[in-house]
Amino acid sequence: MIIDPKDHDDYNIYKLMIGSIVPRPIAFVSSISVDGIRNLAPFSFFNGVCSNPPTILFCTVVRKDGKHKDTLNNVAATKEFVVNIVSEDFAEQMNITSGDFPPNVDEFEVSGLTPIPSDLVKPSRVKESRISLECKLQQIVTVNDLPGGGVVVFGEILRFHIADELFDNYRIDQDKLRAIGRMGGPTYTRTRDRFDLIRLKAGEIKSP
Ligand SMILES: Cc1cc2nc3c(=O)[nH]c(=O)nc-3n(C[C@H](O)[C@H](O)[C@H](O)COP(=O)(O)O)c2cc1C
Repeated sequence: MIIDPKDHDDYNIYKLMIGSIVPRPIAFVSSISVDGIRNLAPFSFFNGVCSNPPTILFCTVVRKDGKHKDTLNNVAATKEFVVNIVSEDFAEQMNITSGDFPPNVDEFEVSGLTPIPSDLVKPSRVKESRISLECKLQQIVTVNDLPGGGVVVFGEILRFHIADELFDNYRIDQDKLRAIGRMGGPTYTRTRDRFDLIRLKAGEIKSP
């Protein structure tokens, strides 16, 4: 099958992307409006960029009506946000926050998740998250401002919050983190089934 995106409906291309780019980590982004209203929403077009300075990115898609997501509006206005990592035990509450709520709705309240103050930025952290990253906006790159287009948000991590029991000499205990990833449609994956591959030096690699 060969698919040339320009010959297909944008939504079908979106489905191809979320089914092909798997599994995706989830940035559970907490932000705050200029009026002080809390916002919480998941974004799985998310990844790390580099460690010096520690930088992450997540992407927000432009809604069908051409409007930007509340998260983007908040981050653009206040220049701060928190990325919280989602574990299995509060996946359902995370999903609730992805509902299409108006900007004056606090998704912490709707989902029952617990806001706790951050140290360096105004947006709250999610208490239930075992890892939270306090971030300041580094830059916003608009790929396309039209419906279905997208915007990339780059953030510098100012502070890591890591539950003590996960931390082992800078390695994260994945059995305790129990992060989830997003697949296509409503499907998620656990991170319990793992395997190791030791990286070889060039001289150690034998041709098959
Ligand atoms: C697991 C998950 C991942 C999501 N990833 C994205 C994403 O990468 N980009 C995006 O624009 N929306 C994504 N969404 C949808 C947003 O969470 C949803 O549109 C939400 O209402 C945005 O909230 P806001 O307007 O308060 O920012 C995702 C939803 C779920 C459940």
